[in-house]
Amino acid sequence: MKEELIRKYNVPVPRYTSYPTAPCWGDDLDDINRIEQRIQTTFQENNTKNGVSLYVHLPYCESLCTFCACTRVIMKNHNVEDRYIDAVLKEWQKYLNLFQEKPIIRELHLGGGTPTFFSAENLKRLISGILKEAVVHSAHEFSFEAHPGVTNRTHLEVLHELGFNRVSFGIQDFDEKVQETINRKNDFQTVKEITEAAREIGYTSINFDLVYGLPKQQLSSVEDSIRKVAKLRPERIAFYSYAHVPWKMKMQRTFTEEDLPNNAAKRALYEKGKELLKANGYFDIGLDHFSLKNDELFKAYEERRLHRNFMGYNTSHTQVLIGLGASSISDFDTMYIQNEKHVKNYEKTVESGDWAYQRSYILTDEDFLIKRAILDISCKRNLQLTEEFKQKFNDGALMQLEEMESEGLLDFQDNTLQVTDLGMVFLRNICSVFDKNYTKNKPTTFSKSI
Ligand SMILES: C[S@@+](CC[C@H](N)C(=O)[O-])C[C@H]1O[C@@H](n2cnc3c(N)ncnc32)[C@H](O)[C@@H]1O
Ligand code: SF4
Repeated sequence: MKEELIRKYNVPVPRYTSYPTAPCWGDDLDDINRIEQRIQTTFQENNTKNGVSLYVHLPYCESLCTFCACTRVIMKNHNVEDRYIDAVLKEWQKYLNLFQEKPIIRELHLGGGTPTFFSAENLKRLISGILKEAVVHSAHEFSFEAHPGVTNRTHLEVLHELGFNRVSFGIQDFDEKVQETINRKNDFQTVKEITEAAREIGYTSINFDLVYGLPKQQLSSVEDSIRKVAKLRPERIAFYSYAHVPWKMKMQRTFTEEDLPNNAAKRALYEKGKELLKANGYFDIGLDHFSLKNDELFKAYEERRLHRNFMGYNTSHTQVLIGLGASSISDFDTMYIQNEKHVKNYEKTVESGDWAYQRSYILTDEDFLIKRAILDISCKRNLQLTEEFKQKFNDGALMQLEEMESEGLLDFQDNTLQVTDLGMVFLRNICSVFDKNYTKNKPTTFSKSI
């Protein structure tokens, strides 16, 4: 890959799980009646058409991995489980009270933190409570994130009985030195056993999270980790760039900058990883996600029917995503809302009968047009540049696209912009051309694109 392209585009840039991106929303909360009205209308327009997606944030982890940039609370005491589940169910009831018909759940994802911090029995109470007043879509996709070290067979069995067919295991890297530095124990045997158990039980799609650019990580550790991972044949692999944000995540200061690979070394880790994933049959579908060709995600990619939301790539195309739990984000197509982040405040607010909303953002018509454009680029690899669309952009944006075309990242034909294979590496940068907030301020608080 051309060195100068990497030098030019390896800059802080958003991952585009939303547009406008979360840092641009501000801290305001719109009038609650207006929010409720918008929720009702969007729900009503979409529920029977496509169903809705649910994300439940389960924030607890038993121990802290120092590299982690997720919203989590470290907790040894499992007594916290009941109160949190009660709060989530109460929050869900508030949504049910707003809806005039039963929600049709197409997608349900438990994220964290570590959802399997909670006992299987408590997860059963949570999921049955959510599904009690809902309809499960015939093509539903239920998934959860699982730390291999704290996930047992009962978790897998109970969730499978409740309709879960996908599981994502956090692997990161198998190297002992890396694991020691990031305070995370995760041996291959444990991962192998839990993966095999998931298959036996009937999970049809398994994802592994890997990270490149971690402290003390070497080419040999990426090679070894991918060699081991490939033996277990997960259908999907997320190969994330380590996001180093020590100004936000203080524990990332427990290792020094010297422990981290420099830019060139990090790029080499990425390229080695990508080459090995490819050699093992994994196809790059974009924005850190790889998939085997027999997986639904790859088929959707080929047929240009991928969708993307806060949960990453998926095939569901729901326009409503309801986020439950502390810090969760909801996407009501023309409005984003984020819940209170602090777990105890979240619980108290919900227990008092209020919404736990902390801030909201209502999209302008222009935001909405750009949101759709970014979705087309990141999910379908192409975008129709209509006259209306072109008028919204200044010459600078169009010139940037032409420059990207001359660099081989894009192809223009009949007013259609097509992302080339080389362009897939710089997908975040291509999306950023349309992002007016980004082009104006060029914020440095995002992680780098590679
Ligand atoms: C909520 S965790 C996954 C579930 C479980 N807590 C675990 O660790 O196995 C979500 C994923 O985010 C990714 N992640 C966390 N911090 C990251 C960072 N600083 N940079 C890149 N990826 C990160 C990791 O790959 C991790 O598996
Ligand atoms: S990586 Fe997973 S287990 Fe580790 S602290 Fe983050 S959310 Fe918790």
